[in-house]
Amino acid sequence: MKFFVDSADVAAIRELNATGLVDGVTTNPSLIAKSGARILDVVAEIAGLIDGPVSAEVTATDHDTMLKEGRKLAKIAPNIAVKVPLTMDGLKTCKALSDDGVMVNVTLCFSANQALLAAKAGASFISPFVGRLDDIGQDGMELISDIVEIYENYAFETEVLVASIRHPMHLLQAAKIGADVATLPPDVLHRLADHPLTDKGLKAFLDDWAKTGQSILDAD
Ligand code: E4P
Repeated sequence: MKFFVDSADVAAIRELNATGLVDGVTTNPSLIAKSGARILDVVAEIAGLIDGPVSAEVTATDHDTMLKEGRKLAKIAPNIAVKVPLTMDGLKTCKALSDDGVMVNVTLCFSANQALLAAKAGASFISPFVGRLDDIGQDGMELISDIVEIYENYAFETEVLVASIRHPMHLLQAAKIGADVATLPPDVLHRLADHPLTDKGLKAFLDDWAKTGQSILDAD
């Protein structure tokens, strides 16, 4: 399973990238706004840091302008995936950019039928938002299961990129279903490594070790 970082915070991305766990990055207009940076600058900086796909989202809603924006974003670096919303104009833009050889991430997906359309339009990634579905009392993970099943039925190459992940259980469930990618906010990625028994066990080892008065670096 690939891990993307869902952030436009360059420092946080750089820190996580050093772990070797990061396969890509996703941004969106809200994350860019939160970072306070200029879109072309921050996307270029992230794309230079990360070997894998870096999603940058168009902000127009009509096909012609979306296509112009998408082509401009794609020129930033070869690892840019242009993000387009799941609307008919977005799907038309997805098809045109895919035909250009550009990776496209179709975002704001909330139904399996929408995901089927994105795959048929040639998307490299489909981004179903599990947290936002849970927020309105629906089952976000059921959507992931449905999309994985449908894509397998027809051997679509579009990767299922689980988005709007809010906590480690979302990641666990997505991994059990077999989703291709999870995009994780930095704090959720950090929390995946946490376990109280790890902390407790480490403390006990270190307390016992201190009693020996030894140091590995000073030992010969
Ligand atoms: C993914 O590409 C989206 O940017 C993101 O996961 C949305 O998450 P949110 O619902 O927590 O804003």
